[in-house]
Amino acid sequence: MSSASPLPPGLPGVATFFETSDGLIRLGIASDLSTAALTLDGAHVTHFQPVGAAPVLFLSGSSHLAPGKPIRGGVPVCFPWFGPRAGHPQSPAHGFARITRWSLESLSGSHTEGVTVVLRLVSDEATRALWPHDFIARLRVEVTRELRLTLEVENTGTAPLPFEEALHTYFAISDVHGVTVTGLERAAYLDKVDAGQRKELGPEPLRFTGETDRIFPANTATCTIHDPGYPRRIIVEKSCSRSTVVWNPWIAKAKAMADFGDDEWPQMLCIETANVGADAVPLAPGARHEMTARIRLE
Ligand code: BG6
Repeated sequence: MSSASPLPPGLPGVATFFETSDGLIRLGIASDLSTAALTLDGAHVTHFQPVGAAPVLFLSGSSHLAPGKPIRGGVPVCFPWFGPRAGHPQSPAHGFARITRWSLESLSGSHTEGVTVVLRLVSDEATRALWPHDFIARLRVEVTRELRLTLEVENTGTAPLPFEEALHTYFAISDVHGVTVTGLERAAYLDKVDAGQRKELGPEPLRFTGETDRIFPANTATCTIHDPGYPRRIIVEKSCSRSTVVWNPWIAKAKAMADFGDDEWPQMLCIETANVGADAVPLAPGARHEMTARIRLE
């Protein structure tokens, strides 16, 4: 598939748009601070790597990389719902934002400062057919030695716009058996692998011993992934996000996913900056909401 319109201009020597053989519009970024890549399809950051460090984001070698298909890895943008849409089993999982082409609003930066990209998704006939609301969504991607992602949603309609959102970040880790996560000690969570039961973590850092799919509601904590294998720490700090989701599919679920290698699950961990379930955002007409995830290495 080839895009009908010409590619947007990039920033010479720093940020370049190109079309992949499968028809994705991709922006490659290389500054003195880091390299990164994102696609207009889904406003999806697929790669981030500070200079001198290993890649921060996991991307499955079996992922679909084609327009209209979710990408397995990087940072899928889940909007306007999270997971299956309640009462609408035919609707795409995690909303339509991740499978829709966004447009470029602005691109700026330099070799020394890094790059800021703003992508935009505006409601139209196609989105209204799936979800009857008027909105403008923007994803601001700031790529320096850190990766800062801000998802902004504006209600341009006349009715309240309740929505869920997640920056569904897949982190690259050396081995899930050896990593720990701090920041969620004693936090309450809904255990999706145990019928959504409400539970509470103990005082120790979170470790991984099996399939993990947990929603931590009303939780604004900074999370740190401690990865002795690299060795490094990944810090995920957030604002205006009241939910954190932690996910690793483990063995059986990994095998069941067509777009994920059977043996890749030990090398990824999702820590998602989100507003889901009881933390969904009730946006009044004319109002705007911004949620930010700031990702850095130590
Ligand atoms: C997580 C959910 O955020 O995303 C999991 O909590 C889900 O339940 C996972 O399996 C992957 O979702 P998808 O739609 O990308 O396969």
